[in-house]
Amino acid sequence: MASQPIIAPSILSADFTRLGEQITEVEQAGAGWIHVDVMDGHFVPPISFGQVIVAACRPVTQLPLDVHLMVQDPAPMLASFAEAGADQITIHVEACRHIHRSLQTIRQLGCKAGVALNPGTPAGALSELLPLVDVVLVMSVNPGYAGQAFIPEVLPKVVALRQMLNALGSQALIEIDGGVDPQTIPAALAAGVQVFVAGSAVFGHADGPAAGLAALQQVTT
Ligand code: DX5
Ligand code: ZN
Repeated sequence: MASQPIIAPSILSADFTRLGEQITEVEQAGAGWIHVDVMDGHFVPPISFGQVIVAACRPVTQLPLDVHLMVQDPAPMLASFAEAGADQITIHVEACRHIHRSLQTIRQLGCKAGVALNPGTPAGALSELLPLVDVVLVMSVNPGYAGQAFIPEVLPKVVALRQMLNALGSQALIEIDGGVDPQTIPAALAAGVQVFVAGSAVFGHADGPAAGLAALQQVTT
């Protein structure tokens, strides 16, 4: 288990005209990872950004770039995201034809491997995959958009996944993504979440990203 919860601001909600500055601001304010939401217009309706933004972020931060691929059939693009500077690559169990092979590929590329599951996907969908992963990303909204309401029904799934990981002796981290804010964090923390992705709560905060991060840190420490 991670000793301290990790906060991973999602740059999907950042001001893209000032992306470098905003990443620096959250890094200095104590963010643990930078979460990079890649959307392909197929697995989820919007198109966000891809390898060039990962490459642009790489030199401006020491933090791990946590790349969340909301992409249908991501296998052909894993190498290019690793080359662009991803430290961790997370793929969706719902989007992969041969996910076992793709998770092995991510590790062979030198990255940490993550598997994500949508709110409607049961924990059991991961049972054969858990030995291959470093991160389990539990979606607490249906992916595609920032600013949606947290779905509390996913929390029992977090508890189940923690038990499954413990039974394997796995150190994989459980990350939650969607609708994370100071109100929703406490129950997620109690369920066993170790990594909190937050877009609007950080970059949409009225007093700026550092203040948004500080508000989350208050409830995670
Ligand atoms: C949702 C993305 C999230 C999203 C989180 O499809 O994977 O990372 O940006 O945004 P908030 O924190 O605003 O729900
Ligand atoms: Zn995400």
